Amino acid sequence: MHFAVLIFASVATMTTFALDNGLMRTPPMGWLAWERFRCDIDCTNDPKNCISENLFIDMADRLYEDGWKELGYVYVNIDDCWASMDRDKDGRLQADPNRFPGGINKLARYMHDRGLKLGIYGDMGTHTCGGYPGTTVDKIDIDAQTFADWEVDMLKFDGCYSNAVEQELGYPLMSKALNATGRPIGYSCSWPAYQGGLPPKVNYTQLGQICNLWRNYGDIQDSWSSVLSIADWFFENQDVLAPAAGPGRWNDPDMLVIGDFGLSMDQSRSQMALWAIMAAPLFMSNDLRTISSGARSILQNKMIISINQDPLGIQGRRILKEKSGIEVYWRPLSNNASALVFFSRRNDMPYRYQTSLSKLNYTTGSYKVTDVYTDQTDVLKDSTEFVVSVNPTGVVMWYVSAPGKLQYHPFIRGNKLHRQTYDVKQNNFL
Ligand code: GLA
Repeated sequence: MHFAVLIFASVATMTTFALDNGLMRTPPMGWLAWERFRCDIDCTNDPKNCISENLFIDMADRLYEDGWKELGYVYVNIDDCWASMDRDKDGRLQADPNRFPGGINKLARYMHDRGLKLGIYGDMGTHTCGGYPGTTVDKIDIDAQTFADWEVDMLKFDGCYSNAVEQELGYPLMSKALNATGRPIGYSCSWPAYQGGLPPKVNYTQLGQICNLWRNYGDIQDSWSSVLSIADWFFENQDVLAPAAGPGRWNDPDMLVIGDFGLSMDQSRSQMALWAIMAAPLFMSNDLRTISSGARSILQNKMIISINQDPLGIQGRRILKEKSGIEVYWRPLSNNASALVFFSRRNDMPYRYQTSLSKLNYTTGSYKVTDVYTDQTDVLKDSTEFVVSVNPTGVVMWYVSAPGKLQYHPFIRGNKLHRQTYDVKQNNFL
């Protein structure tokens, strides 16, 4: 399909409904406890890392003080293992009193005082995946109201210990119950992940109407093979998944593990680039107290964040799989711009990949390209052959800006062909 047609088709599908709570018009960003801190409840021996209010306060402080919040990382999300094993005398969920002595409401206030938001975790079923109290159908209203009373801003609703029939009932009911509280609460549904992630079992039109984001696939782990298998599944199924995404409704390939132990710097750049192409929620699961400066600069890369957060909200796609192991990914962006990712599945050495923008389906014209990781810019005609050097398991990522604004003025000086760029808007040579 021609790209113009593709953009039109994608924009047309954006007029289908999204959960009508006005939230998450761009993919949500923040921090989520699970992948890095799991169900560590041993606060006696591991006080710094156990699931307790201190952990979330520490992460909130880092988001607030270390420049994350300004970039959009505003959600601080509790995952499993926060609850007491027993509901209170009125049947409400309650936080573990030893690990969360101030209760969830105190944490929500702490976040709100700093311009941050608090997310919580529940489970459509008898128990959470970690064995804590779940939310059976009869408990949906009371739990939604409890979260709203606590001033929570987002709910991840998992699906362990329930069957397909219960899930089909429970996920839409929780959506209604959250809306009925009158408090805007972002709603993350794990439902499709429990139903294989694909139609006919999964109805993406319905999901877009009841959830702001949804987990489609298995849990991420702190390893390159895990990141790769998730990316592969999402891009293999892009024809089903990409049309489901749009402002207010996002596919969720799971957390960013950048800053943990399993990924090299190149692999970290790859996860960030592919998640930006996918218009994925950006929930880091790492230790912001000790993160390396290298990992931080990847996660705080403004150009990649703005690509991820592009207001059109069109999920990008893989457009080429070369025999060499190089793959090309593309995402259309607002202002006639786009993002390109050159990704290498190779394990030998940097691969010099030669192509041109016209080979990647760009229409005739000149384009300004910016390498988002090096900030280097160039101006390329659609027909210009260029070479990118892509590291093993790494990426080169470009922001490609609108054709027409820049024109080439090749001129000869000495024996060399020089290129000079003319900016039509400024009416001048750059
Ligand atoms: C499931 C979810 C994970 C995490 C755990 C918690 O496995 O997919 O993201 O929430 O449960 O037990």
